[in-house]
Amino acid sequence: MGKVISICIPKGGVGKTTTAVNLSASLAVAENKTLLIDVDPYGASAVALGFTPDKIKAGISEVFNLTKSISFAIHKTEMEYLDFIPANISSLNLEEKFSKSTENRVILRNSLRNIKSNYKYIIIDCPPVLSGITTNALTASDSLLIPIKCGHFSLDALDRLFNYISWIKINTNPSLKIEGIVFTMYEKSKVTEISERELKLKYKEYLLNTVIPTSNLLNEATFYGKPLCLYKINSEGAISYLNLAHEIMNNK
Ligand SMILES: Nc1ncnc2c1ncn2[C@@H]1O[C@H](COP(=O)(O)OP(=O)(O)OP(=O)(O)O)[C@@H](O)[C@H]1O
Ligand SMILES: [Mg+2]
Repeated sequence: MGKVISICIPKGGVGKTTTAVNLSASLAVAENKTLLIDVDPYGASAVALGFTPDKIKAGISEVFNLTKSISFAIHKTEMEYLDFIPANISSLNLEEKFSKSTENRVILRNSLRNIKSNYKYIIIDCPPVLSGITTNALTASDSLLIPIKCGHFSLDALDRLFNYISWIKINTNPSLKIEGIVFTMYEKSKVTEISERELKLKYKEYLLNTVIPTSNLLNEATFYGKPLCLYKINSEGAISYLNLAHEIMNNK
């Protein structure tokens, strides 16, 4: 049965999509059958995997609108062990419609039931808001992985996320676990040192060993529509995501 992990924090630009794409690809490199699902209406994962709109036959909006079965929205990628469901939402208007259809909190969980056994891991790239879409993702998940942009993290966003997790556990998903907190765009500096210390005061037990360094190659690979392990596997960024995959594979 596939383990479902949401990449989630209510803060923009902290590396959620980069982590979702590169972690999924790294799990796939290790021959774990993996499905990446993009539920962020802005659909950045598709770009990072080289999917142009003409290559998308159906996506997560059909799943939420119940117009197509989830298997119809699954796309093969250039990696044998990696499949992908894109978020095929392009306008704000559609995004509103999309959010409306997620008022039902269990649509994604129910849809995943039919395909969960085909995968070892299912990774969900969440939007930076705690909306109906995120509720659907966390309701369908076994755990969540929280990326924190080093030096710019906000304790407020983390506190809000942890309150939200408590709400989810009471209302929709009592068994939701925390996979861990991972530092992204990590650079040794005084600010990093201070923010690490501050974070550890409250959330030390969740911090993963792997940190993702700042690497322009992660950004560059996106322009070529590839995860970094297919672009420059020997780079520090690619190796750190392979290490993250390894750490998560060793988590229960
Ligand atoms: N480790 C890294 N080193 C350098 N740049 C990075 C790293 N991780 C992510 N970035 C870059 O930072 C920007 C934001 O990353 P990303 O899109 O993954 O964040 P996000 O949390 O998904 O944002 P949003 O909330 O808008 O969906 C992107 O340009 C990405 O290429
Ligand atoms: Mg994103």
